[in-house]
Amino acid sequence: MTIFNAPPAPQDGEILTVPAASASMLTRLARRRSTRAIDMSGPGPSREQLDALLRIGARVPDHGKLFPWRFIVFEGESRARFGEILEEITRADHPDAPPERLTLERGRFDRAPVVIAVISQVTVPHKIPEWEQVLSAGAVCQTMLLAADAMGFGAQWLTEWYGYDARVLARLGLAANERVAGFIYVGTQAVPAVERPRKAPSVTRWAG
Ligand SMILES: Cc1cc2nc3c(=O)[nH]c(=O)nc-3n(C[C@H](O)[C@H](O)[C@H](O)COP(=O)(O)O)c2cc1C
Repeated sequence: MTIFNAPPAPQDGEILTVPAASASMLTRLARRRSTRAIDMSGPGPSREQLDALLRIGARVPDHGKLFPWRFIVFEGESRARFGEILEEITRADHPDAPPERLTLERGRFDRAPVVIAVISQVTVPHKIPEWEQVLSAGAVCQTMLLAADAMGFGAQWLTEWYGYDARVLARLGLAANERVAGFIYVGTQAVPAVERPRKAPSVTRWAG
């Protein structure tokens, strides 16, 4: 059984003792890798861990305090019900789809014990540019990956085809000002992640 003490959320106005040097946090960031959804198993986060994951994930820069995102959690049976929708749409689009394809679509969310849809929800027109509102939702996704890691879970940020399919989005109840920023798959890492090739970031120094 996982022992987990959810860090308490600070009170409004509380003096915060960050930043604080942390070699272990820096090492985790330096070695961070996604865990592929197909490399996950159970258990997933407990109710308490999931609550903390959602709360910590939402602690991101947010210009204008618009909270321009919301979350839809898929766990237990709801993962299979979502899979049925994906299968139904795949059947409609590809009447000759082989059974393996239908099985794949039906089982998308079964790859992880928990999937969190991070929904970008923009207010337009608004003095805060839409771009900045969308970036804030992206920051939520990345923060969730890091928080999941700090709880000992693997996580992956996926969109796949169903993150962009209008019929799927309608079934999820998305409004016209909403888009899927990501489906965050969270579970126990069953297969170790292996480092992948990475380009050094392009860096120039502004010389005036
Ligand atoms: C917005 C967004 C959507 C993504 N969607 C997919 C996807 O649909 N399929 C996929 O294989 N990887 C997707 N990725 C990439 C993975 O999340 C992951 O970053 C990639 O496998 C590289 O691994 P790393 O995070 O360990 O560097 C997406 C990443 C982002 C930022």
